[in-house]
Amino acid sequence: KKVVLAYSGGLDTSVILKWLQTAYRAEVVTFTADLGQGEELGPAREKALLLGIRPENIFMDDLRETFVKDFVFPMFRANALYEGTYLLGTSIARPLIAQRQIEIAEAVGADAVAHGATGKGNDQVRFELSYYALKPDVKVIAPWREWDLTSRTRLIEFAEAHQIPIAKDKRGEAPFSVDANLLHSSSEGKILEEPWDAPDEMVWQRTISPMDAKDEVTEITIEFERGDAVGINGERMSPATLLTRLNALGRENGIGRLDLVENRFVGMKSRGCYETPGGTILHVAHRAMESITLDREAAHLKDSLMPRYAELIYNGFWFAPERRMLQALIDESQKSVSGTVRLKLYKGNTIVTGRQSPNSLYSMKHVTFEDDQGAYDQFDAQGFIKLNALRLRLGAMAGRRGGAL
Ligand code: ARG
Ligand code: SIN
Repeated sequence: KKVVLAYSGGLDTSVILKWLQTAYRAEVVTFTADLGQGEELGPAREKALLLGIRPENIFMDDLRETFVKDFVFPMFRANALYEGTYLLGTSIARPLIAQRQIEIAEAVGADAVAHGATGKGNDQVRFELSYYALKPDVKVIAPWREWDLTSRTRLIEFAEAHQIPIAKDKRGEAPFSVDANLLHSSSEGKILEEPWDAPDEMVWQRTISPMDAKDEVTEITIEFERGDAVGINGERMSPATLLTRLNALGRENGIGRLDLVENRFVGMKSRGCYETPGGTILHVAHRAMESITLDREAAHLKDSLMPRYAELIYNGFWFAPERRMLQALIDESQKSVSGTVRLKLYKGNTIVTGRQSPNSLYSMKHVTFEDDQGAYDQFDAQGFIKLNALRLRLGAMAGRRGGAL
């Protein structure tokens, strides 16, 4: 049996690796991706070798550009927010990891894939729905749902028995669980489980506190083409480079911290502390770009579908027909979303101060409070209001004043 494991090089996935070799007697192929989590891939390779993985069975990929270009950007065209606040930083990375795992499985002739997500969360769902959508006959191994290493002590004992190196700080219980990539970092569990307890400052890993941020305003412009950011301050750059730059700007200005309670797909509520510095700036800027380039009804229709789209991504249905249908609609809407947005970054805030576009629908001639030289005939508004009022007047005349039912 050959199994492709999504391997981070950390303690948990190292134990999984060994467990697959011993309990499953499987030949393990490891896959480690650089998604911009800020960790070198080298140590993961060393550790895989140390745990007996043959060099040809170790796969390492820098997926940062693909991640931003083909996953993050399409999602940001929709202004996707789950439950009004979450920018879906973990959710959007899972289908890409799964996709690459399946590609590797096909390349090496493996019939199984494994991941390190627990049986209580969303990630297991996202990984596995993606696996099945791409390889319907795949065998999925989810060790956290199967094994008996249900306590930290048992896990450490297993690691020790199998000569898995354990970092000193990993011997004890980690104070919370972290997931990170170029778009965001999330912390949840353990000391964060009580939703009334404020998060300790050490929870925040990639932004400085807005209270410690500098007193000077940082002014930037972001250039857009067809709904995607293509440059900062007039300098063109690749998707991953751009997000990396925005992350640095967000970090130093304390932008993108979020403390929330969300509804997991599996039914429970969960508290998380997320940081999405660059993504938060991009989200605000993209909306501002759309504000002058999108037709009102196009914008409103797109907006009405956004919660549905966000929910699909949250629930793991990236590779599903309904997500592709919505994506086609969203992408179509972005044809004219090009131009420049100016922003001020200041102590946790992202403040729009200007927007311009060659495709702007904004008409100064029409909106002006000065003489508009006949561009707009105010007399037209009289009939417009009168016909819109007709049913309200009929209701009131029938004794249902003020919209009474
Ligand atoms: N609750 C977030 C989500 O479902 C993050 C999950 C992974 N985060 C973690 N710290 N393990 O997208
Ligand atoms: C996990 O359970 O592995 C992380 C949290 C989640 O997937 O929601």
